[in-house]
Amino acid sequence: MININFKVNGEDRSVEVDENLRLLDLLRDELKLTGTKEGCGEGECGACTVIMDGETVNSCMVMAFQAEGSEIVTIEGLEKDGQLDPVQQAYLDVGAVQCGFCIPGMVLSTKALLDKNEDPTEEEIKEGLSGNLCRCTGYSKMSKATQIAKEYREEEAKWN
Ligand code: FES
Ligand code: FES
Repeated sequence: MININFKVNGEDRSVEVDENLRLLDLLRDELKLTGTKEGCGEGECGACTVIMDGETVNSCMVMAFQAEGSEIVTIEGLEKDGQLDPVQQAYLDVGAVQCGFCIPGMVLSTKALLDKNEDPTEEEIKEGLSGNLCRCTGYSKMSKATQIAKEYREEEAKWN
């Protein structure tokens, strides 16, 4: 077992992990952050996306011990004081959600994209979400949600 110290959704965590445990399993099974989904388990679908030190990673492809010293954001960490994150709100408002399985990963990839690039082009949005597969909603709704999220974030910045 390996002891790791890291931050999840702003909270310091110290846990003992098996050296073969994936970050995905640590989040879901041990920390009960089940918003992170397992799809393919092979780094192909993006359902398990989380943000690690500002970058999106497929948590099925990261070993838990690699999280040592890192700062991780999962879908549970986006809402603040009962308020959805602008990206979550935008996905809801444009109806970019059907079965919802891909949505936690999709929302986190959208957030990571906008954190790095406040005004992405259509092409950059496509590229930014290319690691996340959705089998039911369709890319144009995701793109629209990203554009709306950008506007919500601009509005929010004016008030803060
Ligand atoms: S479950 Fe990790 S990429 Fe599909
Ligand atoms: S909403 Fe069903 S997979 Fe994306």
